[in-house]
Order: sequence, then structure tokens, then C-alpha cells
Amino acid sequence: MLVTIEKLISPQEVMEVRRILDEATFVSGRVSAGKRAAARKKNSEIPVGANSLDSLNRIVMGALVRNETYRLATLPLKVAAPFYARYVSGMYYDSHIDDPVMGDGPRYRSDVSITIFLNAPEEYQGGELCIDTSFGEQRIKQSAGSAVLYPSSTLHRVDEVTGGERLVAVTWLQSMVRSEAQRELLYKLAMARDQLFCELPDSSACATVEQTYVNLVRMWSEV
Ligand code: NI
Repeated sequence: MLVTIEKLISPQEVMEVRRILDEATFVSGRVSAGKRAAARKKNSEIPVGANSLDSLNRIVMGALVRNETYRLATLPLKVAAPFYARYVSGMYYDSHIDDPVMGDGPRYRSDVSITIFLNAPEEYQGGELCIDTSFGEQRIKQSAGSAVLYPSSTLHRVDEVTGGERLVAVTWLQSMVRSEAQRELLYKLAMARDQLFCELPDSSACATVEQTYVNLVRMWSEV
């Protein structure tokens, strides 16, 4: 399941993020890639331990944890601190699959990958995030402040940027529900539940769907 969240980060917060990114120092992104991915990756990232990361994470992670679509679509258990990446002309990330287990300190399984777009698509040429799905390739280039959530098990790449600069935050999380298929069922059921809450709040259908949703989460969660 591929979920996009428009305006995850407000325009004011995007401006603040841009101000911090403009002053930040970026280094080669090969440092953060697994051994095999490193050869395929040409971008730049803010290094781990940089001062700017705290304020960036407060805005970006804060927006993520407040967002209900994100919570319902991923059922997060452990969330990584994001990497902030910049791709200028000639930079790309060839087709790869994300490492299954990540984290230098506490380890976590990557179930869901997240890309948050931090500048406008008009500001760069190329640079599409291309994800292989069972329904063919999806080419994604979202507005500033929007996010895309996709299974970490997919092959994906970032096409070469041929002009301008592309700014993104990328992160991963371990879900309480390991199975992608189960997460998708829960997400759809949660959507139906929320619609019933609005349209038929006192109906027995609403109560039954709510009970079923809650008990499926209980049945399928590992915490
Ligand atoms: Ni990746």
C-alpha cells in the first residue's frame, strides 16, 4: 500500500525547515548507506550528530506523530530519526531495497519507508521517487510538506536530478503489525469506521466495526 499525505508539514513549518537546511552542512550520503547500496547512491545528507538535526526533527517528527493518516496507515512501534538529503544536478539513488534491520543503538525492523518532500517540485528537474509496486511503477514528486509512505520491501530509486535541488527527509519505522497485507486491511477498516462515526454514530454497525477494528489490532499486534 502506498499512501500519500498532503501538507503533512504546514507551509510555515516548511519555511522554517528550509531556513535550517540553508544553513546546514551536508556530506556525502554514501556514509549512511549499507555496503551494497553505497555504490548506487549519490546524494548529500546532514551528518549524524549535527546541531541542526534537533530542530529539524522537532518539526518533521512532530508533524508525523500528530498526523492521523500516518498513525492509521503504519501503526508505528519504533520510528527512526530521519535523514535529511539534498540532491543537486547529477545526483540520484539507483534502484535498491532498504536494509531489513536498522539502527546503530536500538535496532528496529524496517516495515514502512517514508519520504517527506521539503521543497516544491518546480524547484528541480528529474528526481522522481520511483517505486515498483504490483500495479507497476509509481513515479512520485509531491508538493513541499507532503509525504509518501510505502512498504520497505519494495524496490525503489530516485531518478537523477538534472537541474535545481531536491530536498527530502527520509525515515523508516517498525510497525506493530508486521504484515503489509494486514496493515492494509486495518487501514481500510479504519477508514470505514471513521466514516460510520460521522454518518451513523449511534448505529450498531458503527459499534461492530469499531469492535472488530480494535480486536483485529489486538490480534495482529506485536509489541
Ligand atoms: Ni531506500
